[in-house]
Amino acid sequence: MRQPVRIAPSILSADFARLGDEVRAVTAAGADYIHIDVMDGHFVPNLTIGPAVVNALRPHSKCVFDVHLMISPADPMIPAFAEAGADIITVHPEAGPHLHRTLQLVRSLGKKPGISLNPATPIEAIAHVVEDVDLVLVMTVNPGFGGQSFIMSQIEKIRRLRTLIDATAARTGRAIDLEVDGGINADTAPLAIAAGADVLVAGTATFAGGPERYAANIRQLRGAP
Ligand code: DX5
Ligand code: ZN
Repeated sequence: MRQPVRIAPSILSADFARLGDEVRAVTAAGADYIHIDVMDGHFVPNLTIGPAVVNALRPHSKCVFDVHLMISPADPMIPAFAEAGADIITVHPEAGPHLHRTLQLVRSLGKKPGISLNPATPIEAIAHVVEDVDLVLVMTVNPGFGGQSFIMSQIEKIRRLRTLIDATAARTGRAIDLEVDGGINADTAPLAIAAGADVLVAGTATFAGGPERYAANIRQLRGAP
């Protein structure tokens, strides 16, 4: 059950002083998801944005709000992000002791749960919960910062996840997004797509060159002429 390629600009690379304008601009430029990187300075060595900012951005776009939580613990903050307007809420298995409970919490709030795998986290971490998620995110950099280089060893992980997701979807009849995040650009996007990714997060590559370039940048990542 292969879905079309969708592009998720990471607003980590946007101009934080003009975030509403930036979200409107990438929406108009053809973004499918708005990827929102939430960092706590504890689970990852950087500190970004919280639910108040998600709430403030919500009226600026009809795109899916794809909220990537790099925080530990995640559970206490999940209701606030749901309330703020997140559509997908993705967590890392290392962020808490009860991953299944966390995914059920997201689902109980009417949102789509996702799981994010760090470069060193094995696929087996999700083996028993894959039927409970709507998205699997493969980190192709170590989480914390934009502008890092794509880690090639993750291509094999994407391939293996494609097989796992296809087998799961055949059983359940429900599509699961396979998203890649980190170092996605015109060179690495085709590799990720060929390996089976169908949602590409891109911060640096989307926002490069300013608003007049956003539509062309997104088209190029999608592989469109
Ligand atoms: C890293 C974040 C990414 C990051 C991607 O922790 O999860 O979403 O913003 O940035 P680029 O596309 O610049 O690698
Ligand atoms: Zn991210």
